[in-house]
Formats: sequence, structure tokens, C-alpha cells
Amino acid sequence: MIVGVPKEIKNKENRVGMVIAGVRALTQAGHKVLVQHNAGIGVGIGDDDYRKAGATILEGSREIFEKSDMIVKVKEPLPEEYPLLREGQILYTYLHLAADERLTKALMERKIVGIAYETIQPSDGSLPLLAPMSAVAGRMATQIGATYLQHDHGGKGMLLGGVTGVDRAHVVILGGGVVGINSAKMAVGLGARVTMLDVNVHRLDYISDIFGNEITTLYSNNEQIEKAVTTADLVIGAVLVPGAKAPKLVTREMISKMQAGSVVVDVAVDQGGSVETCRPTSHEHPTYSVDGVIHYAVPNMPGAVPRTSTYALTNVTLKYALMIANMGWQAAVGKDEALRKGVNILNGKVAYKQVADDLGLPFEPVRV
Ligand SMILES: NC(=O)c1ccc[n+]([C@@H]2O[C@H](COP(=O)([O-])OP(=O)(O)OC[C@H]3O[C@@H](n4cnc5c(N)ncnc54)[C@H](O)[C@@H]3O)[C@@H](O)[C@H]2O)c1
Repeated sequence: MIVGVPKEIKNKENRVGMVIAGVRALTQAGHKVLVQHNAGIGVGIGDDDYRKAGATILEGSREIFEKSDMIVKVKEPLPEEYPLLREGQILYTYLHLAADERLTKALMERKIVGIAYETIQPSDGSLPLLAPMSAVAGRMATQIGATYLQHDHGGKGMLLGGVTGVDRAHVVILGGGVVGINSAKMAVGLGARVTMLDVNVHRLDYISDIFGNEITTLYSNNEQIEKAVTTADLVIGAVLVPGAKAPKLVTREMISKMQAGSVVVDVAVDQGGSVETCRPTSHEHPTYSVDGVIHYAVPNMPGAVPRTSTYALTNVTLKYALMIANMGWQAAVGKDEALRKGVNILNGKVAYKQVADDLGLPFEPVRV
């Protein structure tokens, strides 16, 4: 199979879909890997490093898309990339379609095989290709929140952990999954007062077990969310209903009751956001204010730490890339149920139920 690795073009996105180890593994298995010129520059991998591992370097993305049977990326294709995709081509990347009708329709029209990292799911219900990026984003969310709470960044001028004799910041984390727990680790580590809400009581149990009294756990409902959010200095949105749009848990009214200079980091913005007042921002212009509350809602947070993120991501994506390349996508999804759940677009239809439901589009399951 010919596997193509284009350079990411999303704003400030410096990650790359494949590192040296991936190129080696694929070429050793008899495949050809085409890498776009400078695709790995943001993580310190030069064209020569890829060449030495067996890749062929091509100048432009057009050639990569034209020649490859499978495209391995990090982020979803942007509108300028839509026309480069062709019928039957495998697109293996993050897609987050439930939040993007335009992209979904474009992929349907191009009749590609769209395999989304974020919905590949083994029978234990985990999301192994989302988890490493969630860990990165979760850790970043606390760091970023702490930075924007500083007066020189427009915040209320508060140190997350306070100092002896002075109040610490109250960090409220909505969702106790991978993002939530990583945010919590950093917030607890920095000495903040942390409250975490989730609808999964087993998850809350687990969090209580590992954090003990360092974290207050609350069942997530409208009343508890309002109580927690309106006393928060930093709110981190970290909920997920797999494949679906994020539920809007924090209302505009709750935001208006927060103190000016407080901060909201809505990590779930890539699934539409869990805060009513959130709209996607970019690394270039990451924040805006609503009622004096700073909102940070960058959908590709890990892009800011491309070295950590690329290695963490490719550690888990390579296994399936190899499986698809070695067996062909049909046999691979036939054999591996987790990978089958990753198929979001097939034969011009939506093949993932939550995406179809959220966007009001017809659903056609993968048949193996
Ligand atoms: N912005 C970024 O750069 C970035 C990076 C990584 C992940 N994400 C996003 O972060 C979000 C969280 O990802 P994750 O890996 O932690 O998911 P996860 O599945 O590990 O955790 C999500 C948690 O949300 C909980 N939840 C669901 N509904 C809830 C509700 N109504 N109230 C409270 N909790 C609720 C679930 O029970 C679960 O524990 C996802 O939308 C993911 O796409 C964004």
C-alpha cells in the first residue's frame, strides 16, 4: 500500500501523523511511505531523517493525496484539502464529525473511507487513540487556566495554589475522564481546591479512591453544576459522550454569575463545547471574554506541544495503520471490532450512528 503523510495546515498545528518508527515499520512490511517536505519540522524530524527511515519526500500535498492509498494525518482535512481527497481513499485521522456538518458532507461527497481516531473503541469502552491527546490537553488546561488567571493575562490576579494564609483558587472540572483526571492531577499538584463532576458514579468512586480528600466529587446535574461553576475561579470543560456533540452544561446565565477575571477552558470544544458561551478559537487568538470571564476554547490544544503530542499519538495510531496497510481496510475492520467502530464515513454515507443522529443524516452501518 502507498501511505501518505501530508504536512498539517491547521493554524499553529505542528504535529505530524507519522514519526520515524512508523515509517520504518511500514517500509519494512513492504509498503511505500510518502512524506510531504517539512511535514515533521515542528517536532524536530527533518526530511533526511524520514528519508533514512525509508520514506520518499514529496514537495506538495497535492502529490501526496494523489498518489496515496491511505492518508495518515493528525487533524481533520480543511476545506482546501477536500478536493484533494478521492473516491476509495482511506483517510485515517481525527475527524470529530459530529461537530462539523460541512466536513461530514464533503467526506461523503468525496466517497472516502473515513476512519476516525476518536471513535476506535475496544470492548472495554476505552478510547485508546483519544486518550493520549486527552492526557496532554487535560494537563495543558490547568497550566493555561493558571496563566490566564494572572492579571498580566487579563485574569483576576490569582495564584492557583494561593500561599499560606491566602485563599487558593477553586478549580471546577466537568467530566472525570482522561482530560478531567489529568487536569485534576495538575490542579491538585499546584495546590488548588478542586471539585469534579461526572454522571458516572463509578468514575466518581474511582476519583475519590485515588485522590481522597484532595478533590470534592459531585454528581453532575444542573443544580450542582450551577453551585460549583458560580464559585469557580477556573472551569475546565472535559465531558464526552463518545461520537456525539458535547452536552451544554454551563449556561450563559451561570457564566454571568462568575466573578470577572475568572477563566473557562472548554477542552470539549472539539465536540461542540460544554459551555454555552464557547466558540472555537485558535492558538493565534486563543481567548475572548463574555461578561468579564475569559474563555479559552482551542480545539487542537496538543498542537502547542507538538513533540510530546506527536510521540504520544503515534505510539497508539501505528498499530492500526499497520493493520490497515497489511490487510486492507475491509479485512482489518472485519477482524478488529475496535477498528470497525472507527469507520465514520463509507460509500458516501455516515457509518457511525451518533454522528448521523447528531447531524440528522442517514446512517448506514459497516457490513463485514
Ligand atoms: N481541545 C482539545 O485539544 C482536546 C484534546 C483532547 C480531547 N479533547 C476533548 O475533551 C473531551 C473529553 O475527552 P476525554 O478523553 O476526557 O473523554 P472521557 O470519555 O475519558 O471522559 C469524559 C467524561 O465525561 C463524563 N460525562 C459525560 N456526560 C457528562 C455530564 N453531563 N456531566 C459530567 N460529566 C459527563 C463521562 O462520564 C466521562 O467520565 C472530548 O470532547 C475530547 O474530544 C479536546
